[in-house]
Amino acid sequence: MDLNSLIRDVENFPKEGILFKDITPLLLDAKGLQESIDKMAEEVQDVDFDIVIGPESRGFIFGVPLAYKLQKGFVPVRKPGKLPYKTIGQSYDLEYGSNTIEMHIDAIKPGQKVIIVDDLLATGGTTKAIVDLIEKLGGEVVKIVYLIELEGLNGREILKGQNIVSLLKY
Ligand code: PRP
Ligand code: MG
Repeated sequence: MDLNSLIRDVENFPKEGILFKDITPLLLDAKGLQESIDKMAEEVQDVDFDIVIGPESRGFIFGVPLAYKLQKGFVPVRKPGKLPYKTIGQSYDLEYGSNTIEMHIDAIKPGQKVIIVDDLLATGGTTKAIVDLIEKLGGEVVKIVYLIELEGLNGREILKGQNIVSLLKY
């Protein structure tokens, strides 16, 4: 099935001049949704790992079903102030300003192998912050899986050394 045909281009969202890749038609399509999770699972089937981790909110959409399918646990990475227990945070730069993400301090144990899942690789800033948090807790990132990669933004550069795969490239 052509997953690409289920990604909708929306012009000038969220700002003038941005062409937004809208995943909601894919999510709405039963076969498209199933195939995206199945293909992500194929990409990691030979990888030895303990935990799937994904950032809110779109990383949850793909991360939880992938973890379920592979019979692993899931760690949510969240925007500040959302997680109830003790957290560690990591800030990262945006084009203008910065963002912070948080995770629970006991989410990953030293030595655990982790797969990061998200819908989109753009600049790589979000994923790099997640990598830093995982490493602070003593975990190891063994693979990173995306539905979509925007190759023009060169997110792989900031993530160099990581094993990265994306189902769709633009
Ligand atoms: C989007 C997308 C990725 C991230 C990619 O999330 O879902 O998580 O940006 O961009 P980057 O590679 O430049 O970091 P966003 O922060 O818009 O939040 P959302 O998932 O809650 O929509
Ligand atoms: Mg996101």
